[in-house]
Amino acid sequence: MARRLEGKIALVTGGTSGIGLAAAKVFHDEGARVIVTGTNPVTVEKAKLELAGVAEVLRSDAGDSAQIKELFEHVKSTYGRLDVLFLNAGMLGYGPIAPADEATIDRVLSVNFKGPWLALSAAVPLLPRGSTVVFNTSITNEMGGPTTGAYAASKAALRSLVRVAAAELADKGVRVNAVSPGPTDTGIIGKHTATKAEATSIEEGLASRIPLRRLGRPDEVARVALFLASDESSFMTGEEVVVDGGLTRV
Ligand SMILES: NC(=O)c1ccc[n+]([C@@H]2O[C@H](COP(=O)([O-])OP(=O)(O)OC[C@H]3O[C@@H](n4cnc5c(N)ncnc54)[C@H](OP(=O)(O)O)[C@@H]3O)[C@@H](O)[C@H]2O)c1
Repeated sequence: MARRLEGKIALVTGGTSGIGLAAAKVFHDEGARVIVTGTNPVTVEKAKLELAGVAEVLRSDAGDSAQIKELFEHVKSTYGRLDVLFLNAGMLGYGPIAPADEATIDRVLSVNFKGPWLALSAAVPLLPRGSTVVFNTSITNEMGGPTTGAYAASKAALRSLVRVAAAELADKGVRVNAVSPGPTDTGIIGKHTATKAEATSIEEGLASRIPLRRLGRPDEVARVALFLASDESSFMTGEEVVVDGGLTRV
């Protein structure tokens, strides 16, 4: 069977761990030349080893407009075009509505919403007909989990952007969709808890509420991103595909 991304150039933001790392591997296996980004120097160096021969690994902050500009200048000068853009980088950020933590709201919205907007904007001149954009949203954008306000709102805004971008880019022959994961076993929760035990307890609580009784695996989300990035989804645009073991649907 022909590989689904043969000869394509694919950029995965936040590709040094979790879903993005799994996507980088899957895209490479399907024939793409892959570029990934991350910010944490330790994770970036680890990813360089793990992705040797699979992807170019770059440090670039998805919430910083100057670094986004630099990233796409690099893509243009090195690769000349972009066939697949997986806007995956994202961060959690918990806090109640009151009192509001303005710094968290600003940072979460910059990384999860404004950054992807600016990245798509910078990518547009590089996207040929037939290219695809996939955003990583989250099922939180249709839920009301206490303390998830900044994160959930950032992902709801992103979901709106997917539809607008799909409309604006349709005549250019570019499709824009989103994958919307439920709880996925990537370690993202542990980045925001004081102890590993606390993260495990949150993850077990989530798994017990999921009809399939477990968290998703990063590759299970990555393969849906591959579907949306490839010609297999050729009549889909503006769509958001939920991958959550039935949590929000059953
Ligand atoms: N895991 C879940 O349960 C779940 C559910 C729904 C949606 N999602 C979404 O899935 C996406 C990937 O998350 P994940 O679960 O795979 O978590 P993860 O393992 O923590 O991966 C996040 C990736 O994004 C990168 N990243 C974080 N902040 C960044 C920034 N400012 N600039 C560039 N890269 C940045 C991280 O690299 P560095 O650490 O090197 O910066 C890492 O490569 C996120 O958008 C998240 O919101 C996850």
